[in-house]
Order: sequence, then C-alpha cells, then structure tokens
Amino acid sequence: MNVLDPAVVHHLMEGVPEGAGVTRAVKRYHEVASLYESPRDDDPVVYEVYTHDVGPKTKGNLLWGLTVMKPVDSHGECNMTRGHFHEDRDCTEYYFCLRGEGLLLLMDESGETWAERMCEGSLHHIDGHVAHRCVNTSATEELWVGACWPTVSGHDYAAIERREFGYRVKRAGDEIVFEKR
Ligand SMILES: [Fe+2]
Repeated sequence: MNVLDPAVVHHLMEGVPEGAGVTRAVKRYHEVASLYESPRDDDPVVYEVYTHDVGPKTKGNLLWGLTVMKPVDSHGECNMTRGHFHEDRDCTEYYFCLRGEGLLLLMDESGETWAERMCEGSLHHIDGHVAHRCVNTSATEELWVGACWPTVSGHDYAAIERREFGYRVKRAGDEIVFEKR
C-alpha cells in the first residue's frame, strides 16, 4: 500500500494552513473603509484569508479557511469582515475560533441582529439563511477564525449592502458597546 504524506498541514492553534492548494489573500483597509462610520485615513492590513480550495465547485465539495483579523479599529469601531449571506441559503457553515476574542454578528433576513461570543475553542454552526460577520473586539490581539463551508454556497454581499447588520460594535475604553443603526 502506498502511504502518502499529507498534502496540507494546519497546526490549528499555532499556525496557518500550508501546502498544496492553499492560497493567501490580504485585505487592506481601503477595501472595507465604506463599512465604517468614521473611516481611517491610512491603509493598514485588516485581515488575511487562507483558503484551501481543491476540486470542483460542485455540490458536496468543501472549502477550508482561516481568517486572521488584525486589532485595527476605526475611531473606536472594531475591525469587522464584510459579512454575507450565502447565495445558496440552504448551505450551512462552521466557524471556529482559534485565537483571540471577538463576536460573530448574525442577522436573519428580516434584519433581526444578534451575536455569539467568539473565544479560543468556540464553535459556531451557521444557518445559510443567516448573515454572518466576524468582529475583532480586542485592542491588541489578533482574532483567528477557521471555517469550513460548501464550495457551492457563494457569498451574497449585495444583501448586506441593501440592509446592513443592525448594530455597530465599538470599543469605549475597556467596554464593548453596541450602537443601533
Ligand atoms: Fe459564509
């Protein structure tokens, strides 16, 4: 029997996925500046996305990812991902927090918005009918969020542009505050 070395290694708590089929994308501030009430003037890296993408975009195939979110705020508003529904609302997704502290903002199609606390080891099963956005609430530490989702789920960002999440998440000193839009 032929025994192969693994094509990809992901030391979950220590590092990023590495190996065949892993891509890295860097998101800079200017790409997400419009999300914020009071944007910054500079252009730091806000998050990095590692994706293990192999095989066809067909039903049943999965993607594996890691998002590393920097502790970058916009005049007190916490660093967040764009957030999306799945184009195919029947596709669910797992998020799992590997490092740091944050919030998983969730919003149903009526605009009802709530959140789950993200901390090291937290696991989040996301319904495809619910929009999801990660927020790094730390002033100093990165937030590392892993994900596994179907290749066919797609990302519906337009629905978020039509109706944003119901709350902004800000830091006031040591307190995290939620501002209703
Ligand atoms: Fe998703």
